[in-house]
Amino acid sequence: MSDIDNQTVIGTTMSLVHVSQHPLVLTKLTMLRNQTTKSKIFRELVGEITQFLMYEATNDIVLQDHTVQTPMAPYAGHVLAERIGLVPILRAGLGMVEPIIDMIPTAHIWHLGLYRDHDTLQPVSYYNKLPPEVNIDVALVLDPMLATGGSASAAVTVLKQWGVKRIKFLGLIAAPEGVALMHREHPDVPLYLAAIDEKLNEIGYIVPGLGDAGDRQFGTY
Ligand code: PRP
Ligand code: URA
Repeated sequence: MSDIDNQTVIGTTMSLVHVSQHPLVLTKLTMLRNQTTKSKIFRELVGEITQFLMYEATNDIVLQDHTVQTPMAPYAGHVLAERIGLVPILRAGLGMVEPIIDMIPTAHIWHLGLYRDHDTLQPVSYYNKLPPEVNIDVALVLDPMLATGGSASAAVTVLKQWGVKRIKFLGLIAAPEGVALMHREHPDVPLYLAAIDEKLNEIGYIVPGLGDAGDRQFGTY
């Protein structure tokens, strides 16, 4: 994973943008983009790439000491000291939940339903299942696609208003426009990405991208 410190994305000097350079991520992303890849394999690839992003995004989670007894001797080890919340943006973000919860079974999951209005490209909120009290320390917002950035930014705003202090965004493919919007509206939120693509097209799709991430995962063409 390379930290794009001081890289310029459409005129904005970015920090806190991490783009994976791992050979397995790059090859899996190529398979994911391929239009002949069917939904079952597509979902598996979303999950596998997500695990690489999660590995990087959680590398600063605070630990506390925890001693266990091995069959031979005591061992001074660790447990997670911070509580992690996963926030999938429905519906495409759903495919990123299971690969993380497999690795962090104590994580909480909150669903935020947002879809992009086809004409305005503005996010429309239709579902919010946050509990009344903030009971986590770090929120990982999950959405495969960061296009205009409107959906991710709206999700982060909801979490900040709810009181979450530490928020990270995990996405598979971003457009420069989405990265720039997140940097403008939420410069404190690091982005963990598998790729930043060339551009958005005239109808707000990422090019070359992979098409519609929700439709390709769930077969709703
Ligand atoms: C897609 C994607 C993001 C959003 C990205 O969702 O999963 O949530 O678009 O676009 P933006 O950065 O311009 O906001 P979509 O609205 O297609 O809903 P879906 O996941 O239910 O298909
Ligand atoms: N949402 C998608 O699923 N794909 C894009 O390219 C843009 C938004």
